Amino acid sequence: MNISISSRPLHDWDALVQADRAHRILYTDPAVFQEEMTKVFGAVWVYLGHESQIPKKDDFIATKLGLRPVILLRDSAGTLRALYNRCTHRGSTVCRAASGNAKAFQCPYHGWTFLNSGRLAGVPWPDGYACDFKDDKFNLAQLPRVESYRGFIFGTLNLEMPPLTEYLGEAARPLDEWIDRNPGGRIAVCGANRLKYKGNWKLAYDNSCDGYHVVFSHRSLLEMENRHEKDPNKGMSYYKSKPDEAPMYCRCYGRGHHLKDKRPNVEKRAGALWAIEGAHPGKERYEARLRERFGKEADRWLDLASSEPINLTIFPNLLILGNHIQVLEPVSVDETNTVWYGTAIVDGPDIPPGVAEDINALRLRTQEGFPTFGEVDDLTNFEEIQKGLAAQEDEWVYMHRGMDIPGRITTDERGIVTGPATDEVFMRLYIHHWKELMKANPVLSVKRAP
Ligand code: FES
Ligand SMILES: [Fe+2]
Repeated sequence: MNISISSRPLHDWDALVQADRAHRILYTDPAVFQEEMTKVFGAVWVYLGHESQIPKKDDFIATKLGLRPVILLRDSAGTLRALYNRCTHRGSTVCRAASGNAKAFQCPYHGWTFLNSGRLAGVPWPDGYACDFKDDKFNLAQLPRVESYRGFIFGTLNLEMPPLTEYLGEAARPLDEWIDRNPGGRIAVCGANRLKYKGNWKLAYDNSCDGYHVVFSHRSLLEMENRHEKDPNKGMSYYKSKPDEAPMYCRCYGRGHHLKDKRPNVEKRAGALWAIEGAHPGKERYEARLRERFGKEADRWLDLASSEPINLTIFPNLLILGNHIQVLEPVSVDETNTVWYGTAIVDGPDIPPGVAEDINALRLRTQEGFPTFGEVDDLTNFEEIQKGLAAQEDEWVYMHRGMDIPGRITTDERGIVTGPATDEVFMRLYIHHWKELMKANPVLSVKRAP
């Protein structure tokens, strides 16, 4: 079934998104938000979840595609599917659990039951109906396309979207590097810190590669790190003086994907990443135990507990920060959920017994740190921006840092753009991509025949 989208533009997008600035109504107009849920969140590959969250047949998690409630699952035959969590009878959600293992979902309202392929399996007292329930229209709707890239599962309603690997493009390389840092490239996505803010989802996206705000917005976090560590070169200390003169950079891959790469700040040797890890409760005992067992070799394992110094952002909702996976869930024009999933290394023949357990205990600590002490700074800014943008006559949000300065930003032969860590080039490129999506008229469809 195809869903047609009005071809009449909601706004003059070229007037609202200019070379150096964007109009406030991108963040405040409920009609823009509604259109984004179709033209952005319906039309591109959107991150839905990780294969490690549904490792076995019949495993499922509840997730979202924009505002659409979705059950992401591995069905009884092992196929990945994203079913609409929306009963075909009167519209109730059929699954109210966040995760689980189920061959079928029975709608709690009147008991219609659907297999995890999406097919309607039965309705109570069918003799009260004259219809043919074998008609596909009674099956749950589902995303026509679900693809996984090395465990990261994405879905789209847009049959014309290129394959996922093409959509990720060159951004797949830093994603590969992030995955391959873990032994055997194996990771497990764990529990989450869930934080919400009263602001538009794009405010988080605007911040995803922002190296300009760190010393100002996260002053208290930096001060706290310094209070607990005599060594002034720990944590995010490379932001301290002039971040543009540090060897880190921001890189843009097209389609709104980008990377802030802080890895060049860290010496290239085993143990260098662990050496700059800030203070965490209980850290010393785990470290001592690993050093006792492995001596110098322990550095290699301890580095895996440290936060990987990158921010990799895949448009529109997947942000990889350190060892976290952060997912943006738009709720309304001025409300967003951000979900920070921890990640763990996974035991295998290449890891000595007990190491994964110790490293993951340390990872839990390092991953608690930023959402607890840093993300709250960012969310406060997003809420305060949303308040500021209520001023109707003051129309523009500027994003021109780094523009028109010869030699500051470079583009290579593949079209990859690189600039200093504090530049807003990533913001300009993604919002212009967003504008093209808002101008387009994609053909979206759902599937009903499993
Ligand atoms: S709404 Fe689901 S059975 Fe009635
Ligand atoms: Fe921040």
